[in-house]
Amino acid sequence: MLKRFTVSMEDSLLEDFDGFIQDRHYQNRSEALRDLIRNRIIEKEWAADKDVMGVISLVYDHHQPKLQEKVTELQHDFHHQIVSTTHVHMDHDNCLEVIIVRGKAGEVQTLSDTLRALRGVRNSNLSMGSTGQHLH
Ligand code: NI
Repeated sequence: MLKRFTVSMEDSLLEDFDGFIQDRHYQNRSEALRDLIRNRIIEKEWAADKDVMGVISLVYDHHQPKLQEKVTELQHDFHHQIVSTTHVHMDHDNCLEVIIVRGKAGEVQTLSDTLRALRGVRNSNLSMGSTGQHLH
C-alpha cells in the first residue's frame, strides 16, 4: 500500500535531485526518493550489525601462488555466512568469483575485507542488501 506525503525543499536542491533522477534513469521522483531512503536504511542496518544479505564479487589472478586455495579455505571458514558461490574463468589469467552472503553484517564485512586483503586479488566489492526484516 503506497501512501502519499508532501515534501518541501529549496529550488536548488530540487534541481539537483531532478538532475540525479535523470542521470540514474528513474521514472519519477517517488521512485528515486524510495530508493534513496531504502539505501540509507540498509546502511543503518549494516552499521548496527543486523542480519543482512549481500554479494561479494572479487577478481583475482589464479596464477598467484596459493591464492585459489586461500580463497576456498576462507570460504569454508565462513560457510555459515555463504549461501552460494559462482566462479567464472574470465580469461587466461583472471577469475571472477561472486559470493552470495547472509548473516551478521560484521561477519560478512570481515569476510569481504579478508578476501580483499589477499595478495593477487585485483578487485573486491561488497554490495549490501537487506530484506528490511529479520532473517532466519
Ligand atoms: Ni577461474
